[in-house]
Amino acid sequence: MPWCGRPAPPRGTRPDLTGRGVGRALTESVIDLADTWLDVRRLVVVVFVDHDRAIGLDESSGFQREGVVRELGFRRGMYVEAVVVGHRRP
Ligand SMILES: CC(C)(COP(=O)(O)OP(=O)(O)OC[C@H]1O[C@@H](n2cnc3c(N)ncnc32)[C@H](O)[C@@H]1OP(=O)(O)O)[C@@H](O)C(=O)NCCC(=O)NCCS
Repeated sequence: MPWCGRPAPPRGTRPDLTGRGVGRALTESVIDLADTWLDVRRLVVVVFVDHDRAIGLDESSGFQREGVVRELGFRRGMYVEAVVVGHRRP
């Protein structure tokens, strides 16, 4: 998850734990860490445009959709659209 202008490793959970709240706990922990402890003003996540689960998780965790960027993602040999979602420290 990129933050503070610096890229961070991709976010992911163990496949056998999908849909059990691990992604939400991870995402909310990063937001809390950024807001409460690291004085990070803005978090940005880039998600493949068709990744409904990740976008749904981000939006329900407080990120706001900021736009769709063409050819921002690269998957299976092709550039694809990606959604940018952002969170600003309250
Ligand atoms: C994306 C990923 C991190 C989500 O983690 P997870 O542990 O499965 O997600 P959780 O169970 O915590 O949260 C699920 C939330 O996603 C959202 N969601 C799930 N399926 C959805 C769908 N089809 N459409 C929209 N939103 C959806 C819901 O808000 C749901 O919350 P709820 O169950 O309280 O309603 C995980 O599936 C993963 O690691 N995928 C592979 C790697 C990857 O794609 N990483 C993301 C890169 S940006």
